[in-house]
Amino acid sequence: VIDIRKLYGQTGAFTFDPGFTSTASCESKITYIDGDQGILLHRGYPIEQLAEQSSFMEVAYLLLHGELPSGQELDKFTYTISRHTMLHEQLATFYRGFRRDAHPMAIMCGVVGALSAFYHDSTDITDPHQRMVASHRLIAKMPTIAAMAYKYSIGQPFLYPDNSLSYTGNFLRMTFGVPAEDYVVDPVIERAMDRIFILHADHEQNASTSTVRLAGSSGANPFACIAAGIACLWGPAHGGANEAALNMLREIGTVDRIPEYIARAKDKNDPFRLMGFGHRVYKNYDPRAKVMQKTANEVLEKLGVDDPIFDVARELEQIALKDDYFVEKKLYPNVDFYSGVILSAIGFPTSMFTVLFALARTTGWVAQWNEMISDPDQKIGRPRQLYTGATQRDYVPVGKR
Ligand code: ACO
Repeated sequence: VIDIRKLYGQTGAFTFDPGFTSTASCESKITYIDGDQGILLHRGYPIEQLAEQSSFMEVAYLLLHGELPSGQELDKFTYTISRHTMLHEQLATFYRGFRRDAHPMAIMCGVVGALSAFYHDSTDITDPHQRMVASHRLIAKMPTIAAMAYKYSIGQPFLYPDNSLSYTGNFLRMTFGVPAEDYVVDPVIERAMDRIFILHADHEQNASTSTVRLAGSSGANPFACIAAGIACLWGPAHGGANEAALNMLREIGTVDRIPEYIARAKDKNDPFRLMGFGHRVYKNYDPRAKVMQKTANEVLEKLGVDDPIFDVARELEQIALKDDYFVEKKLYPNVDFYSGVILSAIGFPTSMFTVLFALARTTGWVAQWNEMISDPDQKIGRPRQLYTGATQRDYVPVGKR
């Protein structure tokens, strides 16, 4: 019997780390997380300060360039982004190939992937200038692509970008405006939305960012790499959790039903999990969830929305934080727990939640992709495996099996 591991050169020391729980895949200067303390820093700046005092455009610049911009640099960056918000007109026809009831994340995967067939002048990844143009294009076009995915799903005509508005104001108008009617951007909603984008902008080597890096490590087209990130983000254990969290809160419905769901989450024979709870890295309160809860208060008050699911969310959090099971396993609300409540109050259907996450995370993806490509020691990502299959055997013709 031949030991097939030796046959294929699998000798020597390997780390076996399913899910990469303790394997660093790269060096990075972009985002720092201390999961035990509940700390999140972008380029050294605490997420709470960025969410309170900064804007999404400023955070996008910070992630990409490493420093906060001067006033002039911010104006130039914002202007550059606003010059790239249009989609090639031919891309509008691409949407019409999707079924009306296609999930908008399916549309996002397809349309962002299709950008790779449109912008050939920004795909030489060895050229830093072209990399930056591709990054600007991606950041700028995501709101347009996302709003068009929404419009397509409800059968309304697409709206062209209005570049006199802010990044976030323009997105809200393209999403909720209708042709021939003025859409006035509500500053409270615009600020809340911008803050949600900041909170989702980057989170170091999460599954979708690692996917973008792995895809990009082969030198692949940047637009295709971001489409790969979108595909990964879609899963309910990752970006899809905000949709799942809101669906769960609606299913619970009233505060008196919470104990039943807590009991289910603790039952090992029941696959149910409290969505929006727990995190691979945070073993403390996710700092983004705190800002999100505050933003939820502001938005619901401004809109005069008295949604019982917000009471369910708050009460569920209180009960879980005192429950031995959640305390012992260090399960706290994550960023997705309250975001759905806000997005739903603003008027987004649940199917759009992960799309908004993808829109914001694009800044982190392109920053991480740029960092990787500009590293002179960058190698193609190629994990190893621990082979557990059959040892070598001889082929048997089908008639003799
Ligand atoms: N409800 C109930 N139990 C949970 C939950 C939960 N939400 N999350 C984890 N646990 C339990 C697990 O059953 C496991 O128990 P065990 O030790 O008895 O087997 C233990 O806590 C550890 O959980 P793992 O799944 O091993 O932890 P991991 O780090 O792999 O998973 C994850 C993290 C996927 C986020 C998980 O907590 C989860 O599924 N949460 C719900 C989905 C969610 O909210 N995802 C969003 C993540 S944030 C983001 O992507 C932006």
